[in-house]
Amino acid sequence: MPARSPAPVPDFLYGTAWKEDRTAGLTELALRAGFRAIDTANQRRHYVEAGVGQGLAAAYRAGLVTRAELFLQTKFTYMGGQDHRLPYDPTADLTTQVAQSMASSLEHLATDHLDSYVLHGPASGRGWSDADVEVWAAMLAERDAGRTRVVGVSNVSLRHLEQLAGSGAELPRFVQNRCFARLGWDREVRTFCRAREIVYQGFSLLTANPEVMRHPRVGAVAARLGATPAQVVFRFARAVGMLPLTGTSDAGHMRQDLASRDLALTAEEAEAIESLVG
Ligand SMILES: NC(=O)c1ccc[n+]([C@@H]2O[C@H](COP(=O)([O-])OP(=O)(O)OC[C@H]3O[C@@H](n4cnc5c(N)ncnc54)[C@H](OP(=O)(O)O)[C@@H]3O)[C@@H](O)[C@H]2O)c1
Repeated sequence: MPARSPAPVPDFLYGTAWKEDRTAGLTELALRAGFRAIDTANQRRHYVEAGVGQGLAAAYRAGLVTRAELFLQTKFTYMGGQDHRLPYDPTADLTTQVAQSMASSLEHLATDHLDSYVLHGPASGRGWSDADVEVWAAMLAERDAGRTRVVGVSNVSLRHLEQLAGSGAELPRFVQNRCFARLGWDREVRTFCRAREIVYQGFSLLTANPEVMRHPRVGAVAARLGATPAQVVFRFARAVGMLPLTGTSDAGHMRQDLASRDLALTAEEAEAIESLVG
C-alpha cells in the first residue's frame, strides 16, 4: 500500500553507516534489541542499503517485527557524495536521478514506501542552490506519489533552511545534522526547527562531543542516575526535543542506548547540559 499519511515520529534511530558486511547482522541485532526505526542511505560509499534490507528480511522471517511496525528512513545522495557505485544514471537529470535512487532504495529495502526520505546534503555548503530546488521538488513528488510518507534534509545550515523556506517550497519534516555541543548543540538550526515543528535528528552526539562525555557535570548526573555518560547524552538529547541516532555495533550499548529513554533527568540538568560548552 502506498503511504498516504505521516508516520509517527520514532524516539530513537538506529544508524547503519560504516558497517559494511556486518550491516545485515547488526540491523537484525538492533531490531532484536528493540530499535524500531532505521536510518540508512543509498550511498554505497558509507552504507550498504541492500544489507539493511537483508537484516529486515531476517527479522521479518523470525517474526520479530512487521514492516508496519518499523520506521524506515533513507537518503538521496548527490554524485559529489558518492563513489563509483551509483544508484542512478550519472548522465540523467537530477529529477530522474531522484526517481532512480528511490526505486533502488525501495528494492534494497523490499518495501513499497519509506517513512522518511532525506536529502543527504545540499549541493553546496554556501546555500540552497537551483540543484537543491530541483531535487527537493523531485523528492516532494515522490512523497506525493506515496513512495515516502515524509521528506527531510541533512547536513544543513540555518542559511540553507532559510533559503529553502524563502523559495516558497514545503518545509522538511526532519532535519538531520551532526550535533556539536560547542555550538550549543546546533542551537540555531534547532531553534529554526522548533519554531516550525520540524523534528531535529542529531547524529555524532557522542563522537562529536568528547568534552561533554568527560565533563564532571555529566559524570555527576550519570552517577546520580546509575547510568553512563553516553546514556545521559542520549537522554539529554530527547529532553531538549531531539530525535537521537546511534550507530553502535555493540549489543550491550544498543540496550543501554534504548534504556536511556527511561532515565529521570531533571529539567535543570537538561538545561545545564544544553549550555555546558557552548
Ligand atoms: N546524514 C549524515 O551525513 C550522517 C553522517 C554520519 C552519521 N549519520 C547517521 O547517524 C548514525 C550514527 O552515527 P554517529 O556519527 O552518531 O556515530 P556512531 O556510528 O553511532 O558511533 C557512535 C560511537 O559511539 C559508541 N557508542 C554508542 N553507544 C554507546 C554507549 N552506550 N556507550 C559507549 N559508547 C557508545 C560507538 O561504539 P560501539 O560501537 O562500541 O558501541 C561508536 O564508536 C550513522 O550510522 C548514520 O545512520 C548520518
